Amino acid sequence: MTFDVAALRAQFPILDQQVNGKPLVYLDNGATTQKPAAVLNVLEQYYRTVNSNVHRGAHHLSDLATGQFEGARETVARFLNASREEILWTKGTTESINIVAHCIGRERLQPGDEVLISTSEHHANIVPWQQACLATGATLKVIPLREDCSLDLEAFDQLLSERTRILAIGHASNALGTLNPVQDMVAKAREAGAITVIDGAQAVSHFPVDVQALDVDFYAFSGHKLFGPTGIGVLYGRRELLEAMPPYQTGGEMIETVSFEKSTWN
Ligand SMILES: Cc1ncc(COP(=O)(O)O)c(C=O)c1O
Repeated sequence: MTFDVAALRAQFPILDQQVNGKPLVYLDNGATTQKPAAVLNVLEQYYRTVNSNVHRGAHHLSDLATGQFEGARETVARFLNASREEILWTKGTTESINIVAHCIGRERLQPGDEVLISTSEHHANIVPWQQACLATGATLKVIPLREDCSLDLEAFDQLLSERTRILAIGHASNALGTLNPVQDMVAKAREAGAITVIDGAQAVSHFPVDVQALDVDFYAFSGHKLFGPTGIGVLYGRRELLEAMPPYQTGGEMIETVSFEKSTWN
């Protein structure tokens, strides 16, 4: 593949900056990615051609916008080998994990229950579980690392028990770059009766992810680390668990009926 560097520079002035007299080089994709022209173009085109109220307008533009919005959901579903009803739009990985920690964790955990995470988790996959445990009397258990920074899988086997209600683990570590054997861990956790949550923020941009092959209950990632816009993210959830979850936020689009006394959910 060849690049027309002059054309790229004209399109992306970000490349033309100098740092201490040297050309700028960006190597912080783990934190957030730069956006390719295809992404910028489609965003601009959306706002220039169809922008209107998604799902809640009874007019032509709203139909077009809703079609594109739902088309993107189909694309993400194919990307993860999921079905479209199992893809939720969120603000990012942090919100995706918070939704599960609130709607599954705080709803279902009891004193004596355990949530299992690992030492190498991002704060977004620690604090929501810590707070869910504090709110419910459950206990947070942490899988240690071996000297080479990989997960101590013998310790995992020992920590996993019938008390483990939730296993929440990163697919790839943002701090260490290590890959966790999530398929095996999920299989063991499911056998122990635990709900499984994978933080895929650092995984989805590096290799294909198949939520059915992983057999995981929830999988979370962010748009901005995957060449997409800032402020969007995805939560995949197994359909039966999504159906059983209470709403995370209430308001407009999520209602079926509403009165001042009572509302029912869509
Ligand atoms: C592994 C991992 N999980 C979660 C997050 C949080 O992502 P966001 O800030 O997009 O919600 C990050 C961000 O660096 C991350 O690397």
